[in-house]
Amino acid sequence: MAMSDRGTWGSRFGFVLAASGSAVGLGNIWGFPTKVGQNGGGAFVLVYLACVIFICLPILIAELAIGRRTSSDPVGAYSKLRPGTRWWMAGGLGVAAGFGVLSFYSVIAGWALAYIWFTAIGTVSSDALESAAFFTEFTGRAPINLLLTFVMLASTAGVLLGGIRSGIERVSKLLMPVLALLLIILAIRAVTLPGAAEGLAYYLKPDFSKALNFGTLNAALGQAFFSLSLGLGTMLVYGSYLTKREGIARAAIMVVAVDTSLALLAGFMIFPSGFSIPGFDPSATGPGLIFIVLPQLFATLPGGQFFGATFFILLTVAALTSAISLLEVPVAHLIDSHGWKRTRAVLIVMIATFALAIPSALANGASDFFTHLPVIGLDFLTVMITVWNDFALPMGGLFTAVFVGYVWRIDNALEELLAEQAWFPGRQLWGMLIRYACPAAIFLIIFGTLRGMIT
Ligand code: TRP
Repeated sequence: MAMSDRGTWGSRFGFVLAASGSAVGLGNIWGFPTKVGQNGGGAFVLVYLACVIFICLPILIAELAIGRRTSSDPVGAYSKLRPGTRWWMAGGLGVAAGFGVLSFYSVIAGWALAYIWFTAIGTVSSDALESAAFFTEFTGRAPINLLLTFVMLASTAGVLLGGIRSGIERVSKLLMPVLALLLIILAIRAVTLPGAAEGLAYYLKPDFSKALNFGTLNAALGQAFFSLSLGLGTMLVYGSYLTKREGIARAAIMVVAVDTSLALLAGFMIFPSGFSIPGFDPSATGPGLIFIVLPQLFATLPGGQFFGATFFILLTVAALTSAISLLEVPVAHLIDSHGWKRTRAVLIVMIATFALAIPSALANGASDFFTHLPVIGLDFLTVMITVWNDFALPMGGLFTAVFVGYVWRIDNALEELLAEQAWFPGRQLWGMLIRYACPAAIFLIIFGTLRGMIT
């Protein structure tokens, strides 16, 4: 096996920034505020925080522990810990999901890239209907969407060619502080807009009559999973580049803190902005929140072209550092389990992902077939999001929890987590959460999604 193409992080700080770069993405800046809007505001935020602390943090720790113990890609990791069993398939699901998620993720990242330009030159109208029409017309054009998707994938591959330390780690160290700074500037601008108070009240005042139901719990847990890059082996792979010197629990808490603060900060940017537009209805916006509603605001705001371009630069950067971590999962698999050279692995995975992304890029009007798939009637992009986010990722998370809780077992995992006298308070609680709370909660996500589809 070509172990020479495997790297390690240069420092804990480098790891935390790279893993935070993976976690902070479209899920934080687009997904989180959209879900808050669709699920009634402040109370959803509290449910989300509970999911992050009690379900996602334990799973993040578990993934990192498996990765570091085995120094392997997900397939190699499961087969090293339980050779001769079918557990490697849990890793295989993650490798497939890396392709799958990235194939639609890169299409949306391409839109973010294009909107840097659209908002900078001021082509989007301040009128709601015209802004929506502009988005529909733009996403319906094939050549530009394919080109943008390709540019995002090629940039992602470009970073990965540099390897762990001088590729992923270096770029994350450069981009993550920029990202946090841009988000802070935009949030300050937003909370000082006229009408900001109404948006803040919506975001921060929990109305429990709206949030305490099955659908909200389901949405919150799914969102927390996606936002923390769990269930796919991304964190397992990032953990496999950690050295024994770094305490896993401490690093995991830092990553969760960064990801969650930036999601919350995105809410401080989006809700005051939205409510400053007359007639804004947070629950009716859906995915158009970012690409239709905000550009409308930027079209009227003094300095809006500047703030608009800044916002979409932020979104593009966030998406890039996440895309890197998605592509790295299949790449690590080819290097670790098949002995490929990094360069070859990166190029082939990139081309394969682009091929899989084509139908998603054409699913918004450019191709009738992919816009209205036969039999199901949905567009291809929506189908991809559902298959991977709503099923594959929770399944991956369930496998991780069951594997660590009952197969590899808590005491063996703890040996890894406590290596070099690492700091890990609440280890007993962690074991309980992994064995009981996590599998039960994830079961609930999958069941809830199925039920929502049928009814
Ligand atoms: N967490 C990223 C976001 O919030 C997306 C992402 C990167 C991801 N790697 C992942 C999601 C692995 C699930 C699994 O946008």
